[in-house]
Amino acid sequence: MADTATPNVIRRADYAPPAFLIDTVALEFDLVPERTVVRNTMRVRRNPDASRAAHFELMGEQLEFVSATIDGTPFGNARAHEHGLVLDNVPDAFELTLTSICNPAENTTLSGLYVSGGNFFTQCEAEGFRRITYFLDRPDVMATYTVTLRANKADYPVLLSNGNLLEEGDLPDGRHFARWEDPFRKPSYLFALVAGKLVALEERVKSGSGKEKLLQVWVEPHDLDKTRHAMDSLIHSIRWDEERFGLELDLDRFMIVAVSDFNMGAMENKGLNIFNTKYVLANPETATDTDFANIEAVVGHEYFHNWTGNRVTCRDWFQLSLKEGLTVFRDQEFSADMAGGATDEAARATKRIEDVRVLRQMQFAEDAGPMAHPVRPESYVEINNFYTMTVYEKGSEVVRMYQTLFGRDGFRKGMDLYFKRHDGQAVTCDDFRHALADANGRDLAQFERWYSQAGTPRVAVRASYDAAQQRYSLTLTQGYGEAAPATRETQKGPLLIPFAIGLIGKDGADLPLQLEGEAKASAGTTRVLQFTQTEQTFTFVNVAQEPLPSLLRNFSAPVIVEYDYSADQLAFLLAHDSDPFNRWEAGQRLATRELLTLAGRAATGVPLQLDDSVVAAFARVLTDETLSPAFRELALMLPSEAYLAEQMAESNPAAVHAARQFVRKRLANALRNDWLKIYEAHRTPGAYEATPEASGHRALKNLALSYLAELDDPAQAVRLASAQYDAANNMTDRSAALSALLNASAANGGSKEAQQALDDFYRRFEKEPLVIDKWFALQATQRGNAQRPVIDIVRKLMTHPAFNLKNPNRARSLIFSFCAANPAQFHAEDGSGYAFWADQVIALDAINPQVAARLARSLELWRRFTPTLRDGMRAALEKVASQVKSRDVREIVEKALA
Ligand code: TRP
Ligand code: ZN
Repeated sequence: MADTATPNVIRRADYAPPAFLIDTVALEFDLVPERTVVRNTMRVRRNPDASRAAHFELMGEQLEFVSATIDGTPFGNARAHEHGLVLDNVPDAFELTLTSICNPAENTTLSGLYVSGGNFFTQCEAEGFRRITYFLDRPDVMATYTVTLRANKADYPVLLSNGNLLEEGDLPDGRHFARWEDPFRKPSYLFALVAGKLVALEERVKSGSGKEKLLQVWVEPHDLDKTRHAMDSLIHSIRWDEERFGLELDLDRFMIVAVSDFNMGAMENKGLNIFNTKYVLANPETATDTDFANIEAVVGHEYFHNWTGNRVTCRDWFQLSLKEGLTVFRDQEFSADMAGGATDEAARATKRIEDVRVLRQMQFAEDAGPMAHPVRPESYVEINNFYTMTVYEKGSEVVRMYQTLFGRDGFRKGMDLYFKRHDGQAVTCDDFRHALADANGRDLAQFERWYSQAGTPRVAVRASYDAAQQRYSLTLTQGYGEAAPATRETQKGPLLIPFAIGLIGKDGADLPLQLEGEAKASAGTTRVLQFTQTEQTFTFVNVAQEPLPSLLRNFSAPVIVEYDYSADQLAFLLAHDSDPFNRWEAGQRLATRELLTLAGRAATGVPLQLDDSVVAAFARVLTDETLSPAFRELALMLPSEAYLAEQMAESNPAAVHAARQFVRKRLANALRNDWLKIYEAHRTPGAYEATPEASGHRALKNLALSYLAELDDPAQAVRLASAQYDAANNMTDRSAALSALLNASAANGGSKEAQQALDDFYRRFEKEPLVIDKWFALQATQRGNAQRPVIDIVRKLMTHPAFNLKNPNRARSLIFSFCAANPAQFHAEDGSGYAFWADQVIALDAINPQVAARLARSLELWRRFTPTLRDGMRAALEKVASQVKSRDVREIVEKALA
């Protein structure tokens, strides 16, 4: 068994180069759902940079081994085992042909080769290729691939793989073939094939150097009318990467394929991106503004991987953020540029606010729990569990800090050097950092700590003003506070934190900034302080009046800022800060503070009250016509219940819900006429447009509707929502109306208007799976009450004919929505939510471990909750731990219980 056991924990420190290299791969597939035969011919040689190994060990999983030949002769010294194949006494360089069989029809894991809707798809990242053929399935083994696909022509008329189509033709017995060649060396995780009944929207575009490129978006025939937006997003992505980074599409042909059974968002396989249908298909009737924006972002993300991930890839999976953090940063910048160009700061800020919201809500929580890990993790049990908010979103913030430090031009110089040095290589996060440092003539040794330290840093700020000397000092202190145990061992020293600040005068205008020792004030009124020590004081001179500091402008580093603003000061910042991000931030701070006070009262049964001044501060934003509707919507959306619960000493979802509902009702009642006016003023009559302006109007109007639905007498809101539901010409308005109807009726245990709309919605969109996902999700996330707990509705929906646990989107729409997006109902005192969770994790574990492990994570912060809930969660975790089979789920529940 020595060579069969996968070690339990994989450590970054144990990296060693592969003993063998594979230069070319020729794959032949005979595609049959239950029994696909794969013939794999590789040119193999010993790696001159590795120590000499006695055996050639290949990885393989769920494969039936058939035969091995070396240089054309059958090879007897091959031993297949559960996790791979061992070849003894191989030559130093040889051609190896391996034949094996797999069963795509029965593959419910959606990793490797699988069947979905009668078509074949692959998913290889991170370690799926070994489920297709025996291989050195690690990203530092790069080869060129030729792929021959053979299949029945009537059932599988389209045969796709990476790169360029070399040849296609008919075969006997109604079969046909296609042969593809990818001219670029790539790691096995970027391999892909697709076969089936698909059709494509096509465009031909000229790239920057004048070469013609064929672009295709492949979908099932009935979805062809939902591909235009994905195609436009692809074209915009291609242009943007040329303009912003000088990076051109390197293939003659670029394909996107949509599949409805998919574990994540999408996958950047070279020249053949495979997408969850959710991130491709859109038309106004079926997709919301958010869907349109997400499609643009994900199409961009996958396309940008063509350079950051594919041309330069990762040496090992600990370097995952090298490609993911960087590519998220690139897709965020792309979306911001699409919304606001390079200069419209207010429009760019809405994207920034949305991204920071996600980071704080999800990544900060991850960093405070048992799965906390550095952007470049030190160890893992199952790599699929490390496609995390930390690697992606915090990783993106780390990349953004280089740009904040060096400016756009300096960042571009660093990127240019990175590609000059590493094109065609598999490299590390250190290589990226060194390219940025060298291109800008800067020592970034200290900056490495952003990659190696887990936990969210805290920056405490103390200010002092000396009126006589006109000096203003800010003393910054950095640390990790009471960090989660999982993060303590990684903390080694202070970080280089780019800390952007401005100083605001009594009239609300920015003051000039002149640091002690400088001859004159700097040009702009925002300064990026280079905060490198545990404690550091920055003194500004010629400060004529005591200013109000605007701290961490545009969220210049992924940290928590501790500064004791008064409510009045926050209201002032909300009204005046020239930095749009911090304007929003002031409102969030104000709301968070009030909400946490109220949650504390709710937890102890003290009556709730909210000061008029807080209502007034929000009313000013709501009615400020100089602010964009999109910004006002973001400013008036209260922090989420999950985020608020996380901020409590002891998380109490029921108290948070009560507090948040109280404030929503208070704002609804106090500003009733304003909400009504806003509702009318921001209608978007006429044909649907997916522009940022139009979607901003819809967002603000629908926020108004959701507040109106909070009124004690919701009759008017119900009338408006019903009318909006019936008249809607787009999914944003229709689903917002349905949601308002559901919530307006929650207090009365449901209403006939809500039920009618739900039934209509189902009938209308029965043939649109992505819309039916919304139908499940809206019900799973609705508000509940004592007579009608949402768990009852969810359990009933589990038996609905349209429910299917094997389809990840559907499982997410009902189960994840309830367990992760409806905290007040999920965390019911009776433990019913937890029992449901445990049953579903165990059921999913047998079908699809990757999806099961994601669901398993929804209880990981259990130790932070109130005692009753804590006990209930522990019992559920223990139940799962005792029954779970997959390494994926085991790692999650064991870390949670440790
Ligand atoms: N690399 C992909 C991306 O970020 C995500 C990915 C990793 C993935 N593993 C996957 C997608 C497994 C689907 C299934 O774009
Ligand atoms: Zn990615």
